[in-house]
Amino acid sequence: MSVVAHEIEGVSVINHPLIQHKLTIMRKKDTPSVVFRALIKEISLLLGYEVTRHLPTELIDIETPVTSTKAPKLSGRKLCIFSILRAGEGLAQGLHDLIPSARVGHIGLYRDHDSLEAVEYYFKAPNHLDERFCLVVDPMLATGNSAIAALNQIKKRDAKEIVFLCLLAAPEGLRALRKAHPDVPIFTAAVDEKLNEIGYIVPGLGDAGDRIFGTK
Ligand code: URA
Repeated sequence: MSVVAHEIEGVSVINHPLIQHKLTIMRKKDTPSVVFRALIKEISLLLGYEVTRHLPTELIDIETPVTSTKAPKLSGRKLCIFSILRAGEGLAQGLHDLIPSARVGHIGLYRDHDSLEAVEYYFKAPNHLDERFCLVVDPMLATGNSAIAALNQIKKRDAKEIVFLCLLAAPEGLRALRKAHPDVPIFTAAVDEKLNEIGYIVPGLGDAGDRIFGTK
């Protein structure tokens, strides 16, 4: 089985063996940035495969070199991948490769190190969000503050159909996000044990942004 329901309603864990194996390498503190980046991209393709499983398709008429036939193409709402900067870029780039026709929105939030609250500094999104399927990505769902703030901003611009995708989640973040946005399903590759006193996921993988961009 590759997608299992978590005990928290609305949370699905994508526990495919390939994803779990790659995630283990990412967790190791000695894994270099170049490998970390390659792995997050590979995982994003695998996560994207599951998260988009229910996208509707329609049959269109095509000509193969052999004959005329009907074949499926994606239909329905257009997609928008929302990257929560900066770590969201790690997942968003792979997803954009997988779904090149998707639009990409960016939300800049930083975490105040004292209050752990999310503060917005940037927002850029395509128009007609109400007509789009919005896939909001951030590798780490820790306190949930950034994700909650991001979803608040996206909903303010009329987005109706939203899914949140992360790599690792803390139970605290899952509960907070579900409480604030019960209409938004959450997909994650793993649910870790807890948050530590400075808001890091335990056992986690450290600061995802620093590990992707080699800033530490
Ligand atoms: N953000 C990260 O990058 N890592 C954590 O463990 C928590 C939040």
